[in-house]
Amino acid sequence: MSETSAFSASDKHGRYQELHEMIAAVTAGEPDLIANLSNAVALIKDCLPKASWVGFYIQRGEDLVLGPFQGKVACVRIGPGRGVCGAAAQQQLTMLVPDVEAFPGHIACDAGSKSEIVVPIVVANRVVAVLDLDSYELAAFDQADQRELERIAHWCGTLNW
Ligand code: SME
Repeated sequence: MSETSAFSASDKHGRYQELHEMIAAVTAGEPDLIANLSNAVALIKDCLPKASWVGFYIQRGEDLVLGPFQGKVACVRIGPGRGVCGAAAQQQLTMLVPDVEAFPGHIACDAGSKSEIVVPIVVANRVVAVLDLDSYELAAFDQADQRELERIAHWCGTLNW
């Protein structure tokens, strides 16, 4: 039996529109951070079939520590400035990486990952977490994904950190 998706639009823009609406709907009125991040990650993974892994790394002291995710077992703790996640957090900038092998210091949690995008979540000028997506395809994410995922990261910044 095949898995069913909550998404019906076939074009990227339409799917992201559905995604934004569904995230707002499933988190409405719920104050719990982990519950809301968990449902957001499940919806993002369902929305983007190219993503092999979707998850959050949460800033805990100096390190980024694994938070709610969907996908294979992943690295638990990422030191300051390490990997794509650490670079995004340190520079407070989205890292759009079409080929992870060309990114110096990329941390390969899953040897099959070929491209990645990491978006920082910033609250009061401080990074509280990053949203990380990996894909088994090269250049799976583009600037349209970046814009939409930055909108989600901005929404994440409004949660109870
Ligand atoms: N590739 C990331 C590590 C996290 S995994 O992709 C889930 C990095 O280089 O920071």
